This record gives sequence, C-alpha cells and structure tokens, in this order.
Amino acid sequence: MKTVIRPLEKADAVCLAELDRKSFSLPWSVAEFEQLTARDYCTYFVAEADGRIVGCAGYVLLCGEADIDKVVVEERFRGQGIASELMRILIDYGEQHGAEAFTLEVRASNEPAIRLYEKYGFVTEGIRPGFYEKPVEDAKIMWRR
Ligand SMILES: CC(C)(COP(=O)(O)OP(=O)(O)OC[C@H]1O[C@@H](n2cnc3c(N)ncnc32)[C@H](O)[C@@H]1OP(=O)(O)O)[C@@H](O)C(=O)NCCC(=O)NCCS
Repeated sequence: MKTVIRPLEKADAVCLAELDRKSFSLPWSVAEFEQLTARDYCTYFVAEADGRIVGCAGYVLLCGEADIDKVVVEERFRGQGIASELMRILIDYGEQHGAEAFTLEVRASNEPAIRLYEKYGFVTEGIRPGFYEKPVEDAKIMWRR
C-alpha cells in the first residue's frame, strides 16, 4: 500500500468530514473543512492510501504558535506509521513557515495520541479540567517549544 501525504484540497472536505464523524464525538461539518483551504493561517495535510483519504493533521498559526488539531487516521489504517508521517511533515512545514512553537489539547485518557505527540517532542504543561464533552474529560495541554 502506498501512502501519500499532501496538502488538504477543498474537494477532500466530504471524505474528511466522514472520517471525522467516525472518529470524534463532536465532528466538523463539510463546510468547516472546506473553509480551512481558504484561510492562509490554516495548514492541513491529508494522507491518501489506495486513492482515498485515510488521515489528516493540521494547525492554525497565530502569533508564531501553531495550534494542532484534527490528528486522525482511519481505524483500519492505524499502527502503520501514517500519523507519524503526518506529524513529521506538519512540524517540518510549520518550522519553515513561521511556527516558533506547537501546541495541542488531547483527552487525558488518549494514550495512543499522547505517545504519538511525545514521540515528536511534545510535553504536558497543563491540564484543562472538563475541557471535552461527550464524554466530559480533562484535556492535557501539550507543547513542543
Ligand atoms: C492517535 C492516532 C492518530 C495514531 O495514528 P497511527 O497512524 O495509528 O499512529 P502511528 O502508527 O504513526 O504511531 C505513532 C506512535 O503513536 C503511538 N501509538 C500509536 N498507536 C498506539 C497504541 N495503540 N497504543 C500506544 N501507543 C500508540 C506510538 O508511540 C507510535 O509510535 P511507535 O510506532 O514508534 O511506537 C490514531 O490512533 C487515531 O486516529 N486515533 C483516533 C483519533 C484521535 O484520538 N486523534 C487524536 C486527537 S488529539
């Protein structure tokens, strides 16, 4: 299987919204994904395998801080290094385009994601109590400086 990582395009929005709906309890709409491509402070990459979208990761850049969001890989493609590749490309791109630091929130119980972020140099700097809904859970706030 060949996986390609490339920038998000407007035409990906329908597939991404579907992936998001399967993966998160409060998913974004197709329109919200479409809008990402029109905002120059938003940088999102997708992973394509077998000709379809199987993963995503991106950030919003404000004042030199890249706030990472929507890191997701379709369930049956997990454990194959796709999220690692997305994170590597996202961070490299950010460092070359004005990101001085990266931050993100993650559910406190989400071990796979926390491990992934630690692998890329993120450390937990705080807890946001009750940040998540459906179900309510604390967020770990992680930074890569
Ligand atoms: C988190 C997620 C994106 C990882 O995607 P993935 O493509 O399976 O990740 P990779 O195969 O690139 O693995 C990267 C690292 O993540 C960690 N990891 C991945 N799956 C893991 C698991 N089941 N248990 C523990 N650590 C895990 C490991 O550190 C791994 O590195 P290693 O293989 O060198 O040990 C994926 O599980 C996912 O989409 N989860 C649902 C959505 C989500 O929770 N996103 C995060 C929101 S903050």
